[in-house]
Amino acid sequence: MTAELHRYAVEHSDRDDLLRELAEETEGLGGIAVMMMAPEQGALTTLLVRAIGARRALEVGTFTGYGAISLALDVSEEWTAIARRYFERAGLSDRIELRLGPALETLSGLDADDPFDFAFIDADKESYPAYYEEALRLLRPGGLIAIDNVFRRGTVLDPDDREPATLAVRELNDRIAADDRVLTAMIGVADGITLALKL
Ligand code: DHB
Ligand code: MG
Repeated sequence: MTAELHRYAVEHSDRDDLLRELAEETEGLGGIAVMMMAPEQGALTTLLVRAIGARRALEVGTFTGYGAISLALDVSEEWTAIARRYFERAGLSDRIELRLGPALETLSGLDADDPFDFAFIDADKESYPAYYEEALRLLRPGGLIAIDNVFRRGTVLDPDDREPATLAVRELNDRIAADDRVLTAMIGVADGITLALKL
């Protein structure tokens, strides 16, 4: 994908003004802004959630809130203060429940009797395999999991890269490809997204 084609794709996808403003404010934080959902990914997420008629969505890793058209989990009070401000402005404060803390602890306390329709995993990469298992447990059959950064900027292809985050994402990618509990498509949007439909 060239920069020009990327811009072209974003310009030909839906994006509301408030998200544009949130992206600009997040860019002002500096390098950490790479953690924000990409605009074309935001449009895809909105579309997928609508397409499956999701009523309950789970997000693991919220940052400044770009991806949170959902129930949200995060550890950072600092970044989610921005998210809360934009949830308010978007009129979504009463529909988004933000839980701060280590996500595995929060997830293990959730009951699968009240299942989610959609889950977005975008938090610390070392815990991705565990987040995937929890998301699968909490999802209804026919529900969809989207996982961010499955390319890790290409390092998943480099066998010499033994960084814990890379190992965890590589392990999860292999596990999902062989997982007959889900129907899977890994797509080259942003830093790679895996879509896994729970059968
Ligand atoms: C990083 C994390 C993300 O979730 C992302 O989308 C991009 C980068 C990171 O940790 O570098
Ligand atoms: Mg991400």
